[in-house]
Amino acid sequence: MATNVDADHVDALVSLERGEIDRRIFSDEEIFEQELKQIFGRAWLFLCHETQIPKAGDFFETPMGRDNVLTVRQKDGSIRAFLNTCTHRGNALCRAEEGNTKAFMCTYHGWSFNLGGDLIGIPDSDLFYKGDIDRSKYGLRRVPQMANYHGFVFATMDAAAPPIEDFLGTAGRMFVDLVAARGVQVVPGIQKFVIDCNWKLTVDNVFDWYHGQITHMSAFGIGFLPTSEESVTDGGGAQDTLGRKIELRGSIPDGRDEMAVIAEYGHAHSGPTARAVAAHPLSGVQKWRERPEVIEAIGPVGMQLGGHSNIFPTCWLTKSQLSLRVPISPTRTEIWWFTFVDNDATPESRAATISQAIHVFGPAGFLEQEDGENWAQATKQTHGARSAQVPHLLKMDLGRGTVVHEHGVSRIESTTNEHAQLWTFHAWAQWMKGLSWDALHAATAPPDVI
Ligand code: FES
Ligand SMILES: [Fe+2]
Repeated sequence: MATNVDADHVDALVSLERGEIDRRIFSDEEIFEQELKQIFGRAWLFLCHETQIPKAGDFFETPMGRDNVLTVRQKDGSIRAFLNTCTHRGNALCRAEEGNTKAFMCTYHGWSFNLGGDLIGIPDSDLFYKGDIDRSKYGLRRVPQMANYHGFVFATMDAAAPPIEDFLGTAGRMFVDLVAARGVQVVPGIQKFVIDCNWKLTVDNVFDWYHGQITHMSAFGIGFLPTSEESVTDGGGAQDTLGRKIELRGSIPDGRDEMAVIAEYGHAHSGPTARAVAAHPLSGVQKWRERPEVIEAIGPVGMQLGGHSNIFPTCWLTKSQLSLRVPISPTRTEIWWFTFVDNDATPESRAATISQAIHVFGPAGFLEQEDGENWAQATKQTHGARSAQVPHLLKMDLGRGTVVHEHGVSRIESTTNEHAQLWTFHAWAQWMKGLSWDALHAATAPPDVI
């Protein structure tokens, strides 16, 4: 009998032509296991930023699927990444999520390992092992590939994966460089919390510039988000439960000048152009966009990125934050937030960036509480046998998106749309088939129209 994850069946779950996704992919156990294997077991995943581990012995732990990985600064300044599991009988070697150490000692029987992962100590080795154990065989297991791309440390569990620069491609490098070229450091303290939702719904929302006026209405209503005088409602609009028209006002551009980028392996970007952001009466001046090193690093398309970028599968980059969406189960996702400040930030701007990071997203973040409710409810509804048969729709601007292939990047300039979401699900289906890297690259080459 065909399982839910056969290649033919995967193709039937996502329709790029109809803009329809089968909702069962948001709660199916078998699909989740296949995601861990084919996506989280193969893709380059973000581990940490190099500024989080500046000194020898600094370490930071990050999940890669269900594997936990320790990224460790070495004495010579290089970085290594190891599985956080003792090579004796598997205890978690290090219980701290981050810190500094001279060596790692397992709390079960006391085997110890140096910063390079070598097994350097076995309690009572001569007495009990009688010289039978070869220490050189039992060092910590390193991840198959790790790379530092402009300060952003990534790793993959697939030794055959292409180099990080190729995996990111021109678009992915542009998304990282938009932050990296400014010269940034991560603020101590990573925000982590859990939402009862499927991880793919969180990625879908990264690109969604349609929901803000409704989902975040309470944030607008209490003045948490500043309001502009310009209404963004048009024909039809929204109504409240008594049928009264709701006047929607926003602190974001009106959705008439947006840009989506779609790229190989499923990387994508969507949102208002930088030009639309700059023209908005409430926008602050983004001085960093004028720096020559930034302009050179990100190119002409990068200069117009004003929305949100995602490195497939779950690394969301904004101007000053990076979010990982760690899959725990089909219906449970851990959200991680890293916050960047410019290396030359004044104390005031540093404080303002941190304040915003705490109050907008994260466990105390107003907007993410509102978003999380939608993701959790949408996940819950997929448990209904009949409800699960109603397709998840991504039809906005469908078939109208002319893809411009220029400067090594594929972009669509349009009004608010759902192209980046649909592209993410299309790429997801290709990853799920377990294609070779070359076939996956070809299957996720951007089309001319979407
Ligand atoms: S499991 Fe680590 S020392 Fe035994
Ligand atoms: Fe939101």
